[in-house]
Amino acid sequence: MQNDLERVLFDEPTVLRRLDAIAAQISKDYARKELTVIAVLNGSLMFMADLLRRIPLPLKLDCLSVASYHEKAQTSGEVIFKQVALPDVQGRHILILDDILDSGNTLAAIREKLETAGPRSVRVCVLLSKKKQRARAVEADYLGFEIEDEFVVGYGLDYDERYRNLPYIGVLRRELIKGN
Ligand code: IMP
Ligand code: MG
Repeated sequence: MQNDLERVLFDEPTVLRRLDAIAAQISKDYARKELTVIAVLNGSLMFMADLLRRIPLPLKLDCLSVASYHEKAQTSGEVIFKQVALPDVQGRHILILDDILDSGNTLAAIREKLETAGPRSVRVCVLLSKKKQRARAVEADYLGFEIEDEFVVGYGLDYDERYRNLPYIGVLRRELIKGN
C-alpha cells in the first residue's frame, strides 16, 4: 500500500498530537453540556476512535451512514442516508465527526437533516479540509489539518474502499486514480 502513495502528509504521531489539541478544545467547550457525537461512517472510524478516547466527557455516540456517488474520486453531490432512524438529537448539543471536507455536499446534507430533529446546537469536526471552492458552504468548527486539493488516503480515508487501514495520511499517486 505504501508504494501507492506519492508522499506521506501526516504520520501517526503528527495526527495524534493534533488530536490531543482538538480533544482538549472540545472537552473545554462541551463541559457540562449534553453532547451527542455523530460520526459519519466509514471514513471517520479511526479519527473517531482516537479522538473520543481523548475526551473525558459523558457524551453519547452514534454513527450515521451515508453514500455519495463517486466518479473519478469526486463526489456527485447526491447524498443518500443509509440509516433511517435518527440518533438522540433533540435538545442535545450535536457534534458531527467526518473524515474530510471536500465539496461540502455530505456535511451540508447531514447538518440539514439533523437540524430538523431539534438539536440545541450543531457543530462540525473534521480531520481534514481541502482548500478549495466548495459546492456548498460548510465550515468546520474543529479542524485537524487544512490540505491542498489532492486526493488523500489512509487513517480511515479510502480510494475504492482501500487504504483505510494505513496508519498515516498520504497523497495517492495520480496514475492510480481512474480517469487520470
Ligand atoms: P464531500 O461531500 O465532497 O465534502 O466529501 C464527502 C466524502 O468524500 C468524504 O467524507 C470522503 O469520504 C470522500 N472524499 C473526499 N475527498 C477525499 C479524499 O481526498 N480522499 C478520500 N476520500 C475523500
Ligand atoms: Mg469515501
